[in-house]
Amino acid sequence: MAKKTWGGRFKEDADELVDRFNASIGFDRRLYKEDIQGSIAHCKALTKAGIFTQQDCDRVIEALGQIQQELDRGEYPDERAYEDIHTLVERALVAKVGELGERLHTGRSRNDQVALDVRLYVREAINRIRSLIRETQRALVEQAEKHSGLIMPGYTHMQRAQPVLLAHHLMAYYEMFERDWRRFGETLKRTNVLPLGSAALAGTTFTLDREMMARELGFEAISANSMDAVSDRDFILEFLFDCAMVMMHLSRLSEELVIWSTEEFGFVTISDAFCTGSSIMPQKKNPDLPELMRGKTGRVYGHLISLLTVMKALPLAYNKDMQEDKEALFDTVDTLELCLEAACRLIGAVTFNGEKMKQAASNGFLVATDLAEYLVRKGVAFRKSHEIVGQLVLECLEKGKELHELSLEEMRSLCPSIGEDVYEWLDPAKSVERRNLPGGTGPDAVSQCIQKAKEELGL
Ligand code: ARG
Repeated sequence: MAKKTWGGRFKEDADELVDRFNASIGFDRRLYKEDIQGSIAHCKALTKAGIFTQQDCDRVIEALGQIQQELDRGEYPDERAYEDIHTLVERALVAKVGELGERLHTGRSRNDQVALDVRLYVREAINRIRSLIRETQRALVEQAEKHSGLIMPGYTHMQRAQPVLLAHHLMAYYEMFERDWRRFGETLKRTNVLPLGSAALAGTTFTLDREMMARELGFEAISANSMDAVSDRDFILEFLFDCAMVMMHLSRLSEELVIWSTEEFGFVTISDAFCTGSSIMPQKKNPDLPELMRGKTGRVYGHLISLLTVMKALPLAYNKDMQEDKEALFDTVDTLELCLEAACRLIGAVTFNGEKMKQAASNGFLVATDLAEYLVRKGVAFRKSHEIVGQLVLECLEKGKELHELSLEEMRSLCPSIGEDVYEWLDPAKSVERRNLPGGTGPDAVSQCIQKAKEELGL
């Protein structure tokens, strides 16, 4: 490893193992654009503070631009030569502009520098993820609109419960992703704060114009406490939590697609292009994509817990432990972006088997609640009507019938107030139509949700 940025105080070279152990260049190279962007803003503040002349400033900025292009092209490949991305950029700068490059670190520490880089990185990641969430929502709305009339069983405890519209079921996921989208927006506010000027922990003796740097970098605010600014990773944790929440939602959706595509359910067919086969069983068509999405949820949860654990009990201010934030963060971003991309495509690649769903909604007494509510309308108290319908279901089970297959006499023997009009309460389509209150599965209520969604999506 080349000369250290901190070599002055040391008599001995670092052990090779220590270099390897300490280095973050293997993963923080990814922050080079953010690092250079921050250095440009810092350079301007140094110029305003009289450390650089305007000419120095222009030279440094130009050289930083060249370094960025070089890094874009994959130059500086020797990872063993630099401890981290900050050192790499500084060394490259010194190689280009000599002593001027050595002045750039005036009034700055890698502690506020890394805090800045990661804030910029998370900010961009939030923007990308939010637009991927929007695309996923669009795919859901598209399928919901396309299948606005399909009825399926809704489940509780994985047991058929009541008929619902498929569109209602799909729009439930829309709402989850809508909250996710907004949650990232909240995290963005707390991420978009400038730490520069905090230096190592105590601030700096140079009069750096922090407001100017904030404007330059598009931050909404400047941090209020230098010790907090260099040791705070709340924004990353919050971001990781937001990501974990999206993964949880994706995982539930994946799980349903896996179940629905089984022979046993047969509710959906996933197009061949989105399935894989078996190396031994020629007949197999496996839903690997949703399975993997479900599986990858684990590592995202893991990253959240791992960074929470890294941060617990750290004294103020910066500690090297915090370098462990990056791999957790980067892998989370990569995983979530890939999963969201896959989710939009997967949702579009699903064909719904309407007949199968409808049939499933017609068997298994899904209209039992409707019948109980019918009885309430005939003056029976709900607890009583619940019991009567329970007995009718038992009778059906014994006779191998569905509720609508019972004769009027069979029903009236348990409850004389039942009339001929009962049969229209035993039709799953009617059951759905009666639930048009806001938020319900009625076709009008669902189409209002779809309309609201389209407005939110700008469609
Ligand atoms: N690579 C370090 C990190 O990611 C940069 C900050 C190093 N600061 C220090 N005082 N050693 O946290």
